[in-house]
Amino acid sequence: MYYGSGLTNILITGAGGQIGSALSKRLGVRAIPLNHRRLNIADCDMVEAVMQREEPQAIVNCAGFNNVRRCDSDTRWGWEANSVGVANLANVASRLAIPFIHVSSDFVFGQDENRDTPYDEDSPTGPVSNYGFSKLAGEFEVLQRAVRYPDWEYAIVRTAGVFSMPSERWGKNFFRFITEAVKLKSDIPIVNDVMTNITRAEDLAEALAWFVFNITAATAGIYHVTNPGCLTWYDAALLTIGQKVMSSTKAEYAWQVSVPAEVIPDYTCLSQRKYLELGGPELPPWDEAVKELAAALEVKVDQQ
Ligand SMILES: NC(=O)c1ccc[n+]([C@@H]2O[C@H](COP(=O)([O-])OP(=O)(O)OC[C@H]3O[C@@H](n4cnc5c(N)ncnc54)[C@H](OP(=O)(O)O)[C@@H]3O)[C@@H](O)[C@H]2O)c1
Repeated sequence: MYYGSGLTNILITGAGGQIGSALSKRLGVRAIPLNHRRLNIADCDMVEAVMQREEPQAIVNCAGFNNVRRCDSDTRWGWEANSVGVANLANVASRLAIPFIHVSSDFVFGQDENRDTPYDEDSPTGPVSNYGFSKLAGEFEVLQRAVRYPDWEYAIVRTAGVFSMPSERWGKNFFRFITEAVKLKSDIPIVNDVMTNITRAEDLAEALAWFVFNITAATAGIYHVTNPGCLTWYDAALLTIGQKVMSSTKAEYAWQVSVPAEVIPDYTCLSQRKYLELGGPELPPWDEAVKELAAALEVKVDQQ
C-alpha cells in the first residue's frame, strides 16, 4: 500500500536527528537522508541548490530546533530552523508541486491553563514559549503556500515528547536522561503535574512514511500523531526505572534548569481524531512503547 504511488527520491531533512534517522531507515533506498551539515534548511540558496541537484519527488522536514530553554533566551535559535527553514522548504515543495510532510509540535498549544481534554487538530492554537511560537510560525508558512497552491499535497504532523529506541547513536531524549541519572543516584525528581503525550520515533516514522505515499490535495492539512494516551513524565519514568523516581513539580524543574515556569505548558495532550479517520497506521499505546524500551534497556520494569 505504502509504495503504490512509486514515489522515490524522498528527501529527508534533519536526517541526523531522532525522527529523521528513524524515517531514513524506514524508507531505505527511497530516501535521500540529509543531515544538518549537508542541508541547512535556513539557508535559502543551499535549499535551492540541493533541490536542483537531488530532484526529490517528496520532502519530509524532520529538521528543527527543540531546545525550549535556548529558544527562550534567544529567539534566533528557534526562528531560523523552525520558521525560516520551513518557509524555504514549503516554498520549493509547493512551487514544484511535490508532497511535503512537515513535523510540528504539541507546543503550539498551552495557553489554555484550565484544559483537561486533548486538543483536536482544529483547536485554536496558543503557545506559551518562543519555541512554540516558532513552530506555529512554521505551520503558518506551510498553510500560506497551501492557499496559493490549492492542489498541493502536504501534511503538518504535530507530535510530542519524542524518544527513540536505544542504539549506539541514541539521540538526546528523556529516557536516555533518566537511564543515565539512575546509574548515579535514586529518587530522581520527575515532573508529575504536566500532562503530555510521548511518541516513539520509530512509530512516528511509520506514520510519516504513510503520509508520503497517501496524502492527497483533498486530505491535505494538520494531523496529530503520538503514541495514544495522556500522561505525565513521572508516569513514563515509573515504567522505566520503577521506584527510583520521585514525584516533582513543574515549578521545581523550571527552577533547576533556570527557565521561567510559564514557558512550560501545563497541558498539551493531542487527540488523533483526524489521523485515525484518515486511516493512518495506528501506533501502540504509550505504556506498551515504554515497556518495550525498558526491556531493550534491560532495566527492570516495575509494574507497581
Ligand atoms: N523531540 C521532541 O520531543 C519533539 C516534540 C514535538 C515535535 N518535535 C519536532 O520534531 C522535529 C525533530 O525532532 P527530533 O526529536 O528528531 O529532534 P533532534 O533529534 O534534535 O533532530 C533535529 C535535527 O534537526 C537538525 N537541525 C537543526 N537545525 C537545522 C537546520 N537549520 N537545518 C537542518 N537541520 C537542522 C539537528 O541537527 P544538529 O543537531 O546538528 O543541529 C538535528 O539533527 C522538530 O521539528 C521538532 O520541533 C520534536
